[in-house]
Amino acid sequence: MKAIGYDRHLPIDDPQSLFDFELPTPTASGHDLLVKIDAVSVNPVDIAVRTNSESLTSPKVIGWDAVGIVTEVGNQVTLFKQGDRVFYAGSFIRPGSNSEYQLVDERIVGLAPKKLDDAHAAAMPLTALTAWEALFEQLGIDFNHPEANKGKVLLINNGAGGVGSIATQLAHLAGLTVIASASRPATIDWVIQHGADQTVDHHKNFVTEVRDLGYEYIDYILDLKGLDQHWSEFAELIAPNGKIVSITGSKQPLDLNILKEKRATFAFEWMYTKSKYQTDDMISQHEILTKISQLLDNGMIKSTLTETLSPINAENLRKAHTLVESNQMIGKVVVTNN
Ligand SMILES: NC(=O)c1ccc[n+]([C@@H]2O[C@H](COP(=O)([O-])OP(=O)(O)OC[C@H]3O[C@@H](n4cnc5c(N)ncnc54)[C@H](OP(=O)(O)O)[C@@H]3O)[C@@H](O)[C@H]2O)c1
Repeated sequence: MKAIGYDRHLPIDDPQSLFDFELPTPTASGHDLLVKIDAVSVNPVDIAVRTNSESLTSPKVIGWDAVGIVTEVGNQVTLFKQGDRVFYAGSFIRPGSNSEYQLVDERIVGLAPKKLDDAHAAAMPLTALTAWEALFEQLGIDFNHPEANKGKVLLINNGAGGVGSIATQLAHLAGLTVIASASRPATIDWVIQHGADQTVDHHKNFVTEVRDLGYEYIDYILDLKGLDQHWSEFAELIAPNGKIVSITGSKQPLDLNILKEKRATFAFEWMYTKSKYQTDDMISQHEILTKISQLLDNGMIKSTLTETLSPINAENLRKAHTLVESNQMIGKVVVTNN
């Protein structure tokens, strides 16, 4: 089968930074589906993994978002059948979606939204899983009772990136008041269109920005860009009994003591934890993707796709990586065969 990979870190404008090559087509066993890939998206994790790579003896295939058709099922598969059109974000410790076929465990897969084309659907799985788990598992917000969340305020650091663009929509649907950060006119417009009630600038001090909007304290904080710059501001802004979740972490050691007086909670979200550690609740990613698919099909949320490249090959994946590396990405970029 065709595949795209790398064997050492090179700048993305080097044609060898990602190259086309051939691999044997794998076979499905156990809980695995073999999926023929029709569209993939690129996330910052692709850049991080490629950039931090040692020199490899054989090429590595990355890519953590896919839409495709199930062509073969393992003997323990119960959730899907041959011919199903599926979408998923995959596992951190298995070969990625940048290939003609990919094996994926059925428990982290959902049926793709029927009303969306491949590109619009491929934009969603990784960011939607991350946003869902951060908001409704780690922050403990109840998605099903928006009336109970009325008046509760969520601050999102980085509203216009891939995760922010779906987190704003989900938080808005859950009844929260959403303050999202954005620093350019285009990103400010985008976050307002995607469910933010108000915006702040992440290049400025969040305490000043948020207090200027009239809020003394914030009930929930969702960090989607790194804790170093704003950690002490988050501690000052978080409400007593408030909750903070980060999907990124910090380069510096994190001082948790500054949350003690407020009795505030801090949690991490990593979308790959369930599949890497085969947790008991791993199948919840199937359930979340099923829910996201329904919300997309019934128009409650919209795809965050902004850029489409075709076909899936090394040249177009290098272009997609370049866009994500720019640190100016709004929503998502997808590479598709259709
Ligand atoms: N833990 C997990 O499971 C998980 C999952 C997905 C992503 N992530 C991580 O989450 C981060 C965000 O990824 P993403 O795909 O959502 O978005 P992204 O592509 O990193 O976001 C692009 C946006 O970042 C904003 N930005 C630039 N500088 C910023 C700053 N100093 N502070 C805040 N925002 C800034 C820009 O908005 P402006 O132009 O308005 O400045 C731009 O639109 C990445 O580090 C990624 O690796 C983690």
